[in-house]
Amino acid sequence: MVGRLEGKVALVVGAARGIGKGIAERFAEEGARLVLADALAEAGQATAGELDALFLRTDISKMEDAEAAVAVAVERFGRLDIIVQNAGIYPWQLIEDTSPDDWDRVMAVNLRGAFNGARAALVPMKKQGSGRMLFTSSITGPHVTSPGHGHYSATKAGINGFIRSAALEFSGYGITVNGIEPGNILTEAILEHRDAAFIKSMEDAIPLGRLGSPRDVANAFLFLASDEAAYITGTTIVVDGGQLLPEGADFRILPK
Ligand SMILES: NC(=O)c1ccc[n+]([C@@H]2O[C@H](COP(=O)([O-])OP(=O)(O)OC[C@H]3O[C@@H](n4cnc5c(N)ncnc54)[C@H](O)[C@@H]3O)[C@@H](O)[C@H]2O)c1
Repeated sequence: MVGRLEGKVALVVGAARGIGKGIAERFAEEGARLVLADALAEAGQATAGELDALFLRTDISKMEDAEAAVAVAVERFGRLDIIVQNAGIYPWQLIEDTSPDDWDRVMAVNLRGAFNGARAALVPMKKQGSGRMLFTSSITGPHVTSPGHGHYSATKAGINGFIRSAALEFSGYGITVNGIEPGNILTEAILEHRDAAFIKSMEDAIPLGRLGSPRDVANAFLFLASDEAAYITGTTIVVDGGQLLPEGADFRILPK
């Protein structure tokens, strides 16, 4: 059977672990040729080794790093069909405890990183007259939030605005631009940066009864990267187990 991304060249940024690793694994299963980029060199190399992918240590907040990652794909494979800008940080910090430097770092990775990835990938994609730009947004920011997510929410709402603008500007080049809004996905970062009470409260808030997996999110990215999504641009898909649905705090209360 031919994979859904057979012959496609994909760059996944933030691919060493978590959701990004899930995306890289799913794309590899479907036949994509992969370049992985991440700030974590050791974990990134390990993931790339598992998937027979190229790896470049990258800080996506720096334009030169974004350009270097795109250059690896173009030099090695002659083209770039798909970029997924998934790298993101989510320190858990009240606004009153957030310094201007804390704020700037979250903006730099999550939001400028999206711009850097798009700007760098635009060069080969415009030349080819085709491309898929994909971004990891979140339900946090565009739809919901909780205390401690001021900077993070601002970046993810910002990514959705950027997706719409980029989709419009690049529509004449054969490039589509879309994103995924994950709900709460069980990854290393969630376990590192959120406590057990937070994770339990999220589980209780999810109608499908569990946190999502990286593969749940990766499947939606695969769709947006595939030929089936050719007519979709400027939008985001929510992958949240129904978390956005309840109107009240307890959706398990039923009519008598
Ligand atoms: N886990 C969730 O519940 C959830 C929900 C919604 C959105 N997201 C988003 O999904 C993405 C991945 O999150 P995750 O939970 O897998 O986190 P994670 O920390 O496990 O993975 C993020 C990856 O990005 C890399 N990274 C961080 N800063 C970078 C930089 N400056 N340059 C390059 N790479 C960098 C990290 O090294 C890591 O490998 C993020 O954008 C996050 O905001 C996560």
